Amino acid sequence: MNEMMPVSDIATPKLPTLPDAQTVTQVTHWTDRLFSFRMTRPASMRFRSGEFVMIGLMGDVNEKTGKAKPLLRAYSIASPSWDEELEFYSIKVPDGPLTSRLQHIKVGDEIIMRPKPVGTLVHDALIPGKRLWFFATGTGFAPFASLLREPQTYEDYDEVIITHTCRTAGELTYGRELIEALEHDEMLNEVIGEGFWKKIKYYPTTTREQSAKMGRITDLINSGEAYAELGVEPLCPQNDRAMICGNLAFNLELKAMLEAAGLEEGANSKPAQYVVEKAFLD
Ligand code: A2P
Repeated sequence: MNEMMPVSDIATPKLPTLPDAQTVTQVTHWTDRLFSFRMTRPASMRFRSGEFVMIGLMGDVNEKTGKAKPLLRAYSIASPSWDEELEFYSIKVPDGPLTSRLQHIKVGDEIIMRPKPVGTLVHDALIPGKRLWFFATGTGFAPFASLLREPQTYEDYDEVIITHTCRTAGELTYGRELIEALEHDEMLNEVIGEGFWKKIKYYPTTTREQSAKMGRITDLINSGEAYAELGVEPLCPQNDRAMICGNLAFNLELKAMLEAAGLEEGANSKPAQYVVEKAFLD
């Protein structure tokens, strides 16, 4: 047979499905700057709550080589280690190489993931203490979204304080809803213990839009206002452990404050009193 094929019968060329590709199962847009999504998790993939992986999309085809390379960035896994899917929380940067495209993903799309989780915002990097502080700005909330749903967080500490500083009130919604949902999470209440969520003290603040609490957490701690409102003693190396995740300036400022309070930085290889990681920015 040598007939011409009707145009409609010609298969559309598709990029080959990469071995590391996962399928998007849910996308939620929180503001014009923020979105979260869930995707399938490889059955063999293990990680510790708080770790990050490299994820992304295929880049454009290089005109010279005719080939496309994956465009990958480090993303904290926002879901806990026991979840059968993976969740991520991302900023949308209009001209960001990855997020300008990633923000348009839909259910059923494929995301490339290198399944090698790493990171320092893990329980293993901290020595035992009484109170655990999570300090986040913007999408730096992501690893804490994982750790707040991790049973070990409540087994290891009497109290868990999560501070989240964002520009606007809308940027707090993902975190606020996640924390409020813990009260009604039957599975977690059964596994960790009824009322485990009462150990959480949530301290959200905004800096560029009116909300119940205005100001940078760094200033609110330095002035003593945050301690007074939370009803806790100032940070001390005997009782307090901390994890920091936000933009670079924030991380450095808070790190200096914790050091001044006498806390030492820990790592997987040498656990200590606090750990820090930069939030993903495209
Ligand atoms: P501000 O509005 O005063 O800059 P971004 O979206 O730029 O990553 O910022 C997220 C939040 O982190 C904003 O509320 C911002 O406040 C705050 N922030 C930025 N730098 C610092 C810092 N050095 N210390 C405390 N908060 C900071």
